Amino acid sequence: MSGRDYARLAEAFRRAGWVPDGGCLALASPGERVRADLDARAHAGVLTRLFELGHDVDAAALREALGEDALAAARAVGVVEDAGAGRVRCPGVIARVGKGPDGLWLMGDRDLATSRGALGGDHVSALTHASLTLHRLLGTTARGRVLDLGCGSGVHALWAARHATHVVATDVSERALAITRANARLNGLDVETRSGSLYEPVAGERFDVVCSNAPFVITPPSAGERLVYRDAGFPGDTFVRDLVRGLADHLNEGGRGYVLANWFITDTDAPSAGVEGWLTDQPVDAWILGRDQMDAASYAAHWVRDAGYEGPHAHERARAWARWLEEQGIAAIGMGIIAVRRVGSARRGAIRTDWAHAGQPLPHPEQIERVWDGIAALSDADDASLDAARPRPIVELKESRVLALGTGRADTHTLVPAPADAALGQVVTNAPALAVLGALDGDLTLRQAAVAVATLMDLDAQAVTDAARDLLREVVARGMYVLD
Ligand SMILES: C[S@@+](CC[C@H](N)C(=O)[O-])C[C@H]1O[C@@H](n2cnc3c(N)ncnc32)[C@H](O)[C@@H]1O
Repeated sequence: MSGRDYARLAEAFRRAGWVPDGGCLALASPGERVRADLDARAHAGVLTRLFELGHDVDAAALREALGEDALAAARAVGVVEDAGAGRVRCPGVIARVGKGPDGLWLMGDRDLATSRGALGGDHVSALTHASLTLHRLLGTTARGRVLDLGCGSGVHALWAARHATHVVATDVSERALAITRANARLNGLDVETRSGSLYEPVAGERFDVVCSNAPFVITPPSAGERLVYRDAGFPGDTFVRDLVRGLADHLNEGGRGYVLANWFITDTDAPSAGVEGWLTDQPVDAWILGRDQMDAASYAAHWVRDAGYEGPHAHERARAWARWLEEQGIAAIGMGIIAVRRVGSARRGAIRTDWAHAGQPLPHPEQIERVWDGIAALSDADDASLDAARPRPIVELKESRVLALGTGRADTHTLVPAPADAALGQVVTNAPALAVLGALDGDLTLRQAAVAVATLMDLDAQAVTDAARDLLREVVARGMYVLD
């Protein structure tokens, strides 16, 4: 196989009009996959059926779709093989993801939608929903030197390679690294691959961006075959702990780290305490965004099903897994995102934790930046400086009230961002604090607005100031207001 074969193949895909178009059949629902099959016409349709839907296709139709040279290239690189009776198949998948110049073709193994039976121990997905979660956080902001730790098919490394100066992709799986290199060739992109666990392959090096859709699944040591794509082989949640704790040492000042994580929760009243403990002495501003919590049984059942195990044997596996989790003394498993920005030597880092409400969208890169800016601004701000600040909103906010029926009184007041900023969450507060916030437009100080509201509402000025200051801290840390 050679780079020329991949280039020939990519050229044939373009000629056939089989280019990334914003959809992603690899992650589509069964219904959408059937619809795509019904719609699959002409040359691009043959390629969709073969590479994305996992069907055997007529060899002559594929020859027509790709042309003789590209068909030979497809065979040479191993994405097409004979299936007998004049038909051919793709042993894996080629997923199309993204759109236009940011789109990618991604080779990987067949997933549950296209394979028969459970996933193998050395399985490498083209991409998963978790891959897209990490991509949503990063967008196209990965510039400078980028590290993709646990690269799998290379999806993040390749997305980054369009804008970064240098991308290093690491993995313990030689198969994953080979697939990353092949995907780089197919997309005409440049990525350096290195083999090794955690930060071993980049010891002593620093990056502007470190990202990892890590093998974060908390698996019992006795789970049988290790599924390397999701199990790092470390006890409990210590792989994610070491990954998170190693970020600062591998980031340049101002560098960003993005990690998807699962962690032990021992006390459901403090569900982020464990992760916060990993970060407390680290020179980073950290935003921990919890997205979900699962009890041991649901967690075990979810991951057993995710690997394609079914039937009584699967139930047995899940039961043993859940029992092991309970023996570890956990109350639940936390799942979420950890985003950090390396601070300089002038100050210590600060940590902000939020838990997303159901249906809250993922933040995009600019929103994460605003949250980091807010965390940094607050870390230097005492009460007096906040009272003297002239804050102003930087996102559109609305007030939502719940009225106690028959009384005309509002029970709760909630600050709700416009849909574009729904990822920043909602803030519950009280009427006086909200009135102060509403008056802040960059001219008045917090104290001036609080005194005016207290006078109008006939309330104690200090109490209103204190409540408004608490609210201000909240909206600044959520990237909704800036202090100025
Ligand atoms: C969940 S997959 C993510 C793949 C890809 N980054 C994505 O987003 O689709 C995790 C990857 O981490 C790799 N991995 C497993 N254990 C590792 C370790 N100890 N150090 C580094 N990578 C590891 C796996 O081989 C797998 O490719």
